[in-house]
Amino acid sequence: MLSVIVPTYNERDNATELIRRTLAAFDRIEEPVELLIMDDDSPDGTSAAMIEAAAAHQAGERVRVITRTTDKGLAKAVAAGFSAARGDVLAVMDADLSHPPEQLPALLGAIREGADVAVASRYVPGGGTEGWPLKRRIISRVACWLAKPLTPVKDSTSGYFALRRECLEAVDFVPRGYKIGLELFARLPGRRTVEVPFVFRDRTRGTSKLGGAVILAYLVQLGALYRARFPRLVGYLQFGLVGLLGMAVDSATFGLAYWYVGLEALGPTLGGFFAQTLSFLVAARFNFALNRLWTFRERRNHARMSVFLAVSLAGFAMRSLLFEFIVNLPPPAAGGFWAAIVHTLTIEQIALILGVLLASLWNFYGSRRW
Ligand code: GDD
Repeated sequence: MLSVIVPTYNERDNATELIRRTLAAFDRIEEPVELLIMDDDSPDGTSAAMIEAAAAHQAGERVRVITRTTDKGLAKAVAAGFSAARGDVLAVMDADLSHPPEQLPALLGAIREGADVAVASRYVPGGGTEGWPLKRRIISRVACWLAKPLTPVKDSTSGYFALRRECLEAVDFVPRGYKIGLELFARLPGRRTVEVPFVFRDRTRGTSKLGGAVILAYLVQLGALYRARFPRLVGYLQFGLVGLLGMAVDSATFGLAYWYVGLEALGPTLGGFFAQTLSFLVAARFNFALNRLWTFRERRNHARMSVFLAVSLAGFAMRSLLFEFIVNLPPPAAGGFWAAIVHTLTIEQIALILGVLLASLWNFYGSRRW
C-alpha cells in the first residue's frame, strides 16, 4: 500500500486541484493508496477546504485530513504523517502542485522494481524547473552541491520522494529542518536509490515559505548531518576555527594589557612576559570554554581545563621539536621532489607549517580523547 503524505500550511487555494489530480493519479495505481493531508491548523481553513474537496470527489478512505494543533512545523508534520500512514511505501509531496501528483505511479513503480528510495528529481535528464527566477535556481543548485558529500542523490533538496517504510525504521530519523528528504537520504547510505525525472513548476497559488530563516535552518541541518557523518573531520575543523578565534583573543588581550593597561612601562622583557602569560592564559581559557560548548559538546561533562592545558603544552613541545628537527635536516639533493618544495618555500616555513599541522592534530585528538 502507498501512503502519500502532504504537509500543508495555508494551502486552501490548492485544495481542489491537489485532491483532483492526486485521485486521478491514484486511479493509475493498481494497489491500495491513501492521501494524508497533515495540516498545521492553517488559519486560512486548509483542513476544511481539503475535506470538502475530498467529499466532492467521493474520496472516502483514500483521503484523510489530520489537523495538528501542537508541536507544529513542516518536519514534524511529515513525521506525524509517517506514524499515521498505513502503507508499506511512504511518499512525501508538496501541496502546491509544484510536485506533480502524476509522478506518483513512477515513484511507486521504482520502489516495486527494487529501489529502497525513489526521488523525484529536477537534476537528472528529463527533469528541470520552470518559472524559477535566477536567484532561486542558484540557491537550489548551491544547496544540492553543499549536500553532495552526504548523499549520492543529485536532487537532494527535492521534497518529493517515496521510500520503503523499513528504511525509516532502520534510521535514527530526527524530524527537524525543512529538508526531510535530505535528512533521510543522508542517513541511508548504501540503500538502492533511484531518481525519477520531474519538472518543478512553480506554484501558481499561495506563497512559498522559502526565505532567510529557511536557508539558515538548512545550513544548521547540513552542519548536523556533516557532524553525524564525518565526526572527526568536522570536529577538527571546529577545533581549528576555535583556535583561530583564540589567536584573536590572545592578540587582543596582549594589546590591552601591554599598551592600554600599561605593562609596557615595565619594559619589553618583564612587561612582555607578563602580558604574554596573561594573554596565553585568557586565550587558553577561551578556547577551552568554546571547545567544551561547541566542538566537544557531547562530552562536555568530562572536560577539564588542566588536561586541556597539558595536551596543548605537549603539542607545543612537539611542534618545537619538529621545527628543530626539520631546520637541521641536511640540504636536499638537487632535482628531487623535496628540493622543489624547498625551492618554493623556505625550510623554516615548511617546518612551521608541518609543526602547526602536527600540533593541531595532536591537540585535537588529545583533547577529544582526554
Ligand atoms: N504542516 C506544515 N507545517 N506544512 C508546511 C509548513 C509547516 O510549518 N511549512 C510549509 N509547509 C508545507 C507547504 O504547505 C507545502 O505543501 C510544503 O510544505 C512545502 O512548502 P513551500 O513553502 O511550498 O516550500 P518551498 O516552495 O519553499 O520549497 C519547495 O522547493 C524545494 C526545492 O527547492 C518545496 O517543494 C520543497 O519540498 C523543495 O525541497
